[in-house]
Amino acid sequence: MSGRFLLAQISDTHVRADDQGVAAAKLKKAMAQAAEYRADAILLTGDLVNDERAEEYEALSRALRDPPAPLYLMPGNHDERSRLRDLFPSHTYLPRAGALSYAIEQFPVRVVAVDQIVPGETYGLLTEAGAEWLDQTLAAAPHKPTIVALHHPPFPTHDLLFDNIGLHDSDLLARVIAKHPHVMRVICGHHHRVAFGQIAHAPVVVAPSTSWAYGIAMYPGQPIAPRTDEQTGWMLHAWTERGGCASHFIGI
Ligand SMILES: [Fe+2]
Repeated sequence: MSGRFLLAQISDTHVRADDQGVAAAKLKKAMAQAAEYRADAILLTGDLVNDERAEEYEALSRALRDPPAPLYLMPGNHDERSRLRDLFPSHTYLPRAGALSYAIEQFPVRVVAVDQIVPGETYGLLTEAGAEWLDQTLAAAPHKPTIVALHHPPFPTHDLLFDNIGLHDSDLLARVIAKHPHVMRVICGHHHRVAFGQIAHAPVVVAPSTSWAYGIAMYPGQPIAPRTDEQTGWMLHAWTERGGCASHFIGI
């Protein structure tokens, strides 16, 4: 097994059926860039489509045809679990019932994807059952460097909107992560902008959206979730045995 692992994290693609293929083209560009960097795996951290519609998932499925590396999907608050299961039957790592949580085992870094969406809600929540699953899953490989992936940022970003619609009760996640020092990164999306934080001992990287960037509203009177001209993109997480994990923003 190689001493290097490159994970392309592509998030909040918000593929639509009525935008002349603009969002899908950005997703395809991100995947082409991931191929240029010779990513070992590509992980989509939620909000794959914009409106949970069947035609959007069909557009997503077309955009994801022939990925340049093993491809893994996670749901965000704009996704519907059953549509993901039905439209991607070849993605056998997706559980056939319940939360779409799973562990990717075949690389030198373990990636544990945690589905913490709440159907019909914008915020996220790690349930007691989800926390127990995560604890047991992390305990199964205590000596392997591990990235935990979710959709909602698990720390306050000080944005007036996103602090209300982030991961609620993130203390539960913090208590689980704290038990597992081999968790070297937590990665997520949702905020449509790059941000960095921490949960327990683990640095948290918030990936941007490939589709659009939000500004931040820190004070009353500032526009809430304004779309900005900031660059969209994705994150390349590069791990080596001796050097640990470096996370790079790649603009598209
Ligand atoms: Fe999103």
